[in-house]
Amino acid sequence: MSTSLRDVRDQRGEVVAVAQLGGGMVEVSARLPHLAGVAKPGQFAQLRCGGSTTPLLRRPFSVAWTEDDVASFVLAPVGVGTRRLAALRPGEPLDALGPLGQGFTVSGATRALCVSGGLGCAPFPLLIRALRRAGTQTVTVVSGAASAARLYPAARFARGDPGVHVEQVTEDGSRGRRGLVTDAVPAHLDGASTAVYACGPTPMMVALARILQGSPAPPIAQVSLEAPMGCGYGTCLGCALPVRGADGQAWTLCCREGPVMDVETVDWDELMTLPPAHVA
Ligand SMILES: Cc1cc2nc3c(=O)[nH]c(=O)nc-3n(C[C@H](O)[C@H](O)[C@H](O)COP(=O)(O)OP(=O)(O)OC[C@H]3O[C@@H](n4cnc5c(N)ncnc54)[C@H](O)[C@@H]3O)c2cc1C
Ligand code: FES
Repeated sequence: MSTSLRDVRDQRGEVVAVAQLGGGMVEVSARLPHLAGVAKPGQFAQLRCGGSTTPLLRRPFSVAWTEDDVASFVLAPVGVGTRRLAALRPGEPLDALGPLGQGFTVSGATRALCVSGGLGCAPFPLLIRALRRAGTQTVTVVSGAASAARLYPAARFARGDPGVHVEQVTEDGSRGRRGLVTDAVPAHLDGASTAVYACGPTPMMVALARILQGSPAPPIAQVSLEAPMGCGYGTCLGCALPVRGADGQAWTLCCREGPVMDVETVDWDELMTLPPAHVA
């Protein structure tokens, strides 16, 4: 299924808020009426990082939340582009190209489980709101990070919705359950009534895919993946990901056929052999 570029716009917005969420995580909100109006959960935008040619390429970020004409992004400074975005101040411009890519399938499953690892939290607030509006009665988020300081604040997943429950997991045990976020998953799987959505580091997604292989099939099992991106809309061919094709292994474009994919379509063994995403 290919996405249409019909809804994509390059829009210059104005930053309206920058919230420090702890652990270096920042939520940047900008007035971007087009993106805020049409972005679906799991879609992303290519953000220009500052006014110079360094970095040359835009960087991809999930649309984390929309409210009226404002779109928000959650990020942490890991390199040149994210450092510039994290340093933005209200009143400064922010250029966004989007919405891009395939988002999550939102259906009326009775329950949903969202598996969030570190900055993989980003697409979930928008997804959770859409799920609840579509009739999902209960959304459980298992949210993991290395330590308490690096957890996405639980209240930002739920945003006051009483049908949303957050279980926190930290590797060092500084908050919630000690261990890996995937340790908490099996207790929340109940086969046909629970849709599963995940976003996080590749090893987390591989572990989740293995858990799901040994469990009754959920109605939906989708992951949001990352790849190094140049253009973000299918022309540079820089974002290929390995998938299971009809005749064995195949490659697909993360920006166009993803970033959200069905868990069983991904070639997880091959994905684990790829180097981390890095762009100019
Ligand atoms: C579809 C999509 C959605 C994304 N959504 C978000 C989001 O909502 N929030 C967020 O914080 N990040 C998100 N990312 C990752 C984000 O785009 C990268 O962290 C960013 O491009 C890094 O740019 P930089 O210039 O700061 O880092 P660079 O200077 O390019 O690299 C610095 C370091 O970060 C690592 N890095 C670069 N890109 C990635 C990546 N894609 N994944 C992991 N490590 C990377 C590099 O290997 C290097 O070690 C998303 C990526 C994709 C493909
Ligand atoms: S980022 Fe250019 S083809 Fe996907």
